[in-house]
Amino acid sequence: RPRVLSGMQPSADSLHLGNYLGALVNWVKTQDEYDAFFFIPDLHAITVPHDPAQLRERTRRTAAQYIAGGIDVERSTLFVQSQVPEHAQLAWVLNCITGFGEAARMTQFKDKSAKAGQEAASVGLFTYPVLMAADILLYQPQGVPVGDDQRQHVELARDLAQRFNHRFGETFTVPEALIQKEGARIYDLQEPTSKMSKSASSPNGLINILDDPKVTAKRIKSAVTDADTRVAYDRQAKPGVSNLLEILSTISGTPVARLVEEYEGRMYGHLKADVAEAVVARIRPIRDRTLELLDDTAELDRLLAHGAAKARETAAATLSAVYDNVGFLRSG
Ligand code: TYM
Repeated sequence: RPRVLSGMQPSADSLHLGNYLGALVNWVKTQDEYDAFFFIPDLHAITVPHDPAQLRERTRRTAAQYIAGGIDVERSTLFVQSQVPEHAQLAWVLNCITGFGEAARMTQFKDKSAKAGQEAASVGLFTYPVLMAADILLYQPQGVPVGDDQRQHVELARDLAQRFNHRFGETFTVPEALIQKEGARIYDLQEPTSKMSKSASSPNGLINILDDPKVTAKRIKSAVTDADTRVAYDRQAKPGVSNLLEILSTISGTPVARLVEEYEGRMYGHLKADVAEAVVARIRPIRDRTLELLDDTAELDRLLAHGAAKARETAAATLSAVYDNVGFLRSG
C-alpha cells in the first residue's frame, strides 16, 4: 500500500478547529487507502521557549486527541518523534545539504522569528523545516496530508529528497503534499483574515477541541462579521461570514453555494447558531473520548511506546541507507 505521514505540534493544551478540519479529518480518511504514520513532533516543540512538565502533558493530550479524532492505532502507526532517534540523526545529514539562503526563505521561520525578535530566535527554529523534511523522508511516504500553511515545508522536503538522490544515489521517495480543498484554511473568528492559530492575539478567535462546548458556542456566536446583512461567500469583502460558511460546509458536507441559497433572506444570527450547533455536535464526542483516554496515561504511554518501536523499523532502514550512501564508516 502507498504510504502517508503527518504530524501536529504539541504546542497547546488543545488542538484547534484548523488542526482538526485542515489536517486530522484528512488523516483519518487516508487510513483506508494508505499505510499511515502519524506522530507528535515534540522535537519541533522545543524550537521556541517551553516548559518541560507542560510539554509532557501536551504530548499526551495531542496523542489522545489523534486517537479520539479517529486515528486507529491498530491500522496506523502512532508515535512520539523524540522516541525515534533517527529523526534527529537524519536531520543533521539534511542540514548539510540545505542552503542557508534556502532555509532563510521559509515563511513560517520569517513570521515566527519576527515575533521572537531576530536575535532571540533559536538556531533550532531556523532549521525546523529541515527536521520536518527528515520526519517525512525517513518513512518514504508518497503523500503528506497537511493544511495549506505547510505547503512550503513539504516543497523543501521534495527538493532535499531530489538533491540527495542526485548527489548520493536513489535513496528517498519524493513526497507530495496532500491538501484537501475543504477546511485547508480555517480563519480566526475575531480576525478572519488571519489563519486560526494557537498564537492568536485573542483566545476568543479560537475554537479548541477540548474547550467546554458552552465556551465554543459562545465564541462562534460572537464571531466578527461585517456591517452588511446578506449571507454571501466573498473572501475579500466578507471574510468573517465566508469563514463561517466554510466551517459549516466542511462539517456538514453541504457545498458553500447550497448553503448560501439556504440562508437567503436570513440573518447572520441564524447562520452563527447553526455553525455553533454543528461544531459542538462534531467535537463533543472527541472531547469526551480524549478526556477518557487521559484518565489512563499508563495505557496511553504503552500505546505510544509500541508505535515508536514499529516506526523505528522503517526509520532505521532508511537511515542506514543514508549513512552508507554519504560514506560513513559503519560499525557492522
Ligand atoms: P502545526 O502543528 O502548526 O499544524 C498541524 C496541522 O494543522 C494544519 N493547520 C491548519 N489547517 C487549516 N486551517 C488552519 N487555520 C490551520 N492551522 C494549522 C497544518 O497545516 C498542519 O497540517 N510543521 C508542522 C508539524 C510537522 C509536520 C512534520 C507535519 C512537523 N513535522 C512532518 C507533516 C509532516 C506544524 O507545525 O504543524
